[in-house]
Amino acid sequence: MQTKTVFTCQSCGYQSPKWLGRCPECDKWNSFIEESFDNNSERASRSIIADILSSNAPQKLSAIELKGLLRTNTRISELDRVLGGGLVEGSAVLVGGEPGIGKSTLMLQVSNIISKERRVLYVSGEESLSQIKLRAKRLGLSSDNLYIVNETDLVRIIKYIKELKPYMAVIDSIQTVYNPQFSQNAGTVTQIKESAGMLTALAKSIGVSVFFIGHITKDGVIAGPKVLEHIVDSVIYFEGQKESPLRILRAIKNRFGTTDEVGIFSMEQDGLKEVKDPSGIFILHKNNPLPGSSITTVIEGTRPFLVEIQALVTASGFGMARQRSMGFDLNRMILLIAGLQKNVGLNLANQDIYLNVAGGVKVNEPASDLAVSVAISSSFKERPVRQDTVIMGEVGLTSEVRGISQVRARVNEAKRLGYKKCIIPASDYKSLKNITGIELIGVGNVSQAFEELFI
Ligand code: TYD
Ligand code: MG
Repeated sequence: MQTKTVFTCQSCGYQSPKWLGRCPECDKWNSFIEESFDNNSERASRSIIADILSSNAPQKLSAIELKGLLRTNTRISELDRVLGGGLVEGSAVLVGGEPGIGKSTLMLQVSNIISKERRVLYVSGEESLSQIKLRAKRLGLSSDNLYIVNETDLVRIIKYIKELKPYMAVIDSIQTVYNPQFSQNAGTVTQIKESAGMLTALAKSIGVSVFFIGHITKDGVIAGPKVLEHIVDSVIYFEGQKESPLRILRAIKNRFGTTDEVGIFSMEQDGLKEVKDPSGIFILHKNNPLPGSSITTVIEGTRPFLVEIQALVTASGFGMARQRSMGFDLNRMILLIAGLQKNVGLNLANQDIYLNVAGGVKVNEPASDLAVSVAISSSFKERPVRQDTVIMGEVGLTSEVRGISQVRARVNEAKRLGYKKCIIPASDYKSLKNITGIELIGVGNVSQAFEELFI
């Protein structure tokens, strides 16, 4: 028996004949583990592939029939939107996200809906059947066409899928699946690639749609689903912060649609609920203005929605003043603070400054700079900001307000939600003259915005 040894980076799949401390591909430290292969296991694995693809032979391009993409509505419109208009038959989709974010919950809910009309197989390698039943009860699910199996052996999973011929199969999670003909543990790059590769080939050959659930951790200890991204047709990530019920489903790759749509959900007592009107859940005290709060717009995918920025500025006790930010880039916040000191004349040097984007949203658009500057000044001056006004604009180093993208969509969203005024960059004002029903105020710098805003 011939055995060869390679070292594989568990983060990105890079292989090297010798151990390396740092991966030259993805720069991760200590990510290499030793893997040995013997020729027998590769041969055995090839025979499984041959079995899956038994009826495959080259065909003339001209002889291939053009079949339209068969899409199924999952009836979870936030998911359909991310998939590019429904689930494509025979496609392989990777659903990535941190543990506990709600991947199993989402997939069980989707399985239940699809199984109202077609057969669905849910393969769980992580939870026992009774745990899944308990979750299904909590979610209030019931269906006669939803099959569950507790299995991690790839060969048997393939057998179940071939026997049951479901319309859709969920593999929860791909990190637990292993091919027994390989000596590596489940969860290593080799096993993950092997399992996902085989199941994707199977999906294509018999027309089953497969969802792979893949965990990612912040420090990348578990083999990252990154290695899977080029195997599957679509990659969607489920994001959010555990402290907040808000969850965002985002397509990173999609062979059958665009990647600029997002789905927004909220995690409730009885499962994930679609959030059709995201602006509503992010704004807390609309009718009760408090110092330190301002409203701005963010664009997620192609949709604008409104979020509340909160700042707390207090005299620092002693020593170094502290600056902390949740949901907004800290370095950017420090730049904005420096601008407020130098150009607007606020003495923020001995102040602790905390910033938070309400609802656990992450804002990484320069268009919210002005609202951040306003929230910080508002808390510092202890003067509330007009809450009927939405603030948008990028702030430059001289505290000038610069133009932003998609202003019209942002202004329309503010109008739809009943806001009376928008503070916008002066340079964008001209292009919006024909908008009615909401007052627009163009500002050229941060001080001008302050004149309009403080009560
Ligand atoms: P889960 O789907 O198990 O996460 P993942 O598969 O991504 O690891 O979700 C687990 C979390 O969701 C857990 O903290 C409990 C919470 N949860 C709810 O809040 N409501 C529910 O109805 C369910 C089923 C879970
Ligand atoms: Mg899970």
